[in-house]
Amino acid sequence: MSKAEVLFLSQEEEIQCGLLDMKMVMEEVEKSFVKMGKGMVKNPPKVKLGLPENHNWTSFFNSMPTWLGSEEEGDEGIVGFKWAAESKNNVKENNGLPLGVDVVILSDPHTVMPKAIMDGTIITAMRTSAVAGVAAKYLAPKDAKSACLVGAGVIGRTMVMAMMEALPQLEVIYMADLKVEKCQGLAEEFKDQIKIVPSASVEESVKDADVVVTATTAGKPIVAKEWIKKEKVTFIQMSGYEMDLQIGLASKKYVDNYKQMMTFDDKLLYDMVVNHNVAEKDVWELSDVATKAKKGREDGDKWIICMTMGMGMQDIIVANKLYENALKQGLGTKLTYWENPLWI
Ligand SMILES: NC(=O)c1ccc[n+]([C@@H]2O[C@H](COP(=O)([O-])OP(=O)(O)OC[C@H]3O[C@@H](n4cnc5c(N)ncnc54)[C@H](O)[C@@H]3O)[C@@H](O)[C@H]2O)c1
Repeated sequence: MSKAEVLFLSQEEEIQCGLLDMKMVMEEVEKSFVKMGKGMVKNPPKVKLGLPENHNWTSFFNSMPTWLGSEEEGDEGIVGFKWAAESKNNVKENNGLPLGVDVVILSDPHTVMPKAIMDGTIITAMRTSAVAGVAAKYLAPKDAKSACLVGAGVIGRTMVMAMMEALPQLEVIYMADLKVEKCQGLAEEFKDQIKIVPSASVEESVKDADVVVTATTAGKPIVAKEWIKKEKVTFIQMSGYEMDLQIGLASKKYVDNYKQMMTFDDKLLYDMVVNHNVAEKDVWELSDVATKAKKGREDGDKWIICMTMGMGMQDIIVANKLYENALKQGLGTKLTYWENPLWI
């Protein structure tokens, strides 16, 4: 057995490989949903480790292994793992670190040898909003002119990118955050691309929106049914339980992954299914929409909700694209894994 090497990619190198290209990331994420719909993905529900405990965490770590198959003869697909973490300490202490910090490992499915280790933090931020972008593409009203984004953090920024990509006809984004200065910062950052109206009031921001996206750390419902337009509206919820129960019950329902989402017993989907008689057959997965097995928004649909908690397949497909680009561009640092395996 010869020397084994692993390619290490820093965040900066990943950006050189195209990580901030939302169009590319959305295409890769949509491909992962198509593969899932065709039964070509193994993506077990996350294993969650919360500290000090899962329901009352200050820090958490999620283990997210994934395999995505290929239709090409002899291609054994892509396999990888995201070690996803968040720490409320980073926000509270304002210590220069983001809430979420992630690592991705790609391995060879045949030999199981690791091929690459890379930062997963910006991959997460990009692919998370790309999922919302895919949802908006299929579920938003065709003539959606306005969106409301609640949460102007890391995901809030990529959400602006995703909404512009998915809904090019969008004219205005109403943006709400407890820290209105964060909305103002994003309004300035994107001022040449889209009009962003900052606000500290969620009620004020949602009232005229055709699409409402929540990506906050609120940890409880913050969007009330009475504030929403009666006509066609699409809700995209990134963080488990931010839309009021009554919004969920009144909407046609979609998720990224039903099985995984039902492992979160403190989230909106679980509440609707277990306590309010919502049947599994009435909750559709985005993967079936991506393969056209099920319909997205149809004429006559009014409120639609899409709930996501994130899946490793989205990270691994994007990470693999970056890895391929890094090989083409000669980027990254080769680390010696071993000179010779000690025992075989
Ligand atoms: N679905 C997924 O795949 C996925 C992936 C990554 C992160 N997330 C979730 O997205 C959320 C945002 O993550 P982030 O990295 O952007 O965090 P962040 O800390 O960078 O930003 C969160 C923002 O929410 C704001 N906020 C908190 N409570 C609020 C309230 N009641 N009303 C309005 N604004 C409020 C905060 O002020 C902050 O600006 C987190 O809950 C995270 O767990 C989901």
